[in-house]
Amino acid sequence: MGFVDYQAEGMVGILTINRPAALNALNSGVLDDLNAALDGVDVNEIRALIITGAGDKSFVAGADIAEMSALTKEEAEAFGRKGNDLFLRIESFDIPVIAAVNGYALGGGCELSMSCDIRICSDNAVFGQPETGLGITPGFGGTQRLARLVGMGMAKQMIYTARNIKADEALRIGLVNAVYPQAELMPAAKKMAEGIARNAPIAVANAKKAINDGYQVSIEEGAAIEEELFGDCFETHDQKEGMGAFLEKRKEKIFTNN
Ligand code: CAA
Repeated sequence: MGFVDYQAEGMVGILTINRPAALNALNSGVLDDLNAALDGVDVNEIRALIITGAGDKSFVAGADIAEMSALTKEEAEAFGRKGNDLFLRIESFDIPVIAAVNGYALGGGCELSMSCDIRICSDNAVFGQPETGLGITPGFGGTQRLARLVGMGMAKQMIYTARNIKADEALRIGLVNAVYPQAELMPAAKKMAEGIARNAPIAVANAKKAINDGYQVSIEEGAAIEEELFGDCFETHDQKEGMGAFLEKRKEKIFTNN
């Protein structure tokens, strides 16, 4: 596919944003291709997805500034909606999504990584929301997800100052879970994805839904969401397999995704 490559390795899918001449910046074509690539992920077979960028310099250097520069208010709103719809889709995708941030994650790139369930990065990664320096606000979810991830104060500081941060600071503020030398990033992402893929897929999906949906509501409503999704697991084969294996002291477990 044009700007996005998709590769399946066993039960792990890898989406690579491939527009290196523009540091993988998100123009409309990249957004469309990413959306289409998600359509192609068979979530019955694939149990965890990795999103990364082509090359060793940039994950995604933001939304495409050249494309945005002449937009009208209405066109900018539509462009924002296009990015937001895609990132909301990633956030609620049926299987966990890991951002393997292999370099610049600026503006829309930082926002893309934040729509993923988990972020890990290479030691040359740079995160930031530079938009106010361009005369705009973050437009693909940055004003919403950054505060949820790193807290209101740090999010406001990053967005108002438009200052980029390096991998070690991203780790310190909890924006990423781990930092690796560049060559070790994809092996680490795959290892994590394979670890997820070994667990019961319906349980993982229900856990993702419970965390995401519960985060938006009161703790009481969140508990009710959890109870229902917890209960649903007890109608699955994989619950019987997982608990049966424990009780029978059996190491081998075969989760069939039903
Ligand atoms: N949009 C369009 N093109 C971009 C781009 C972007 N966000 N980022 C990089 N490019 C292009 C450059 O224009 C350049 O193209 P040419 O070779 O044709 O001139 C090419 O990628 C390489 O970039 P640089 O020469 O600038 O590379 P560098 O190593 O000197 O700098 C960088 C790297 C610091 C990441 C720099 O490219 C940069 O600052 N990019 C812009 C980052 C940014 O501001 N991102 C936020 C965009 S706004 C946004 O994302 C809004 C939103 O929330 C929806």
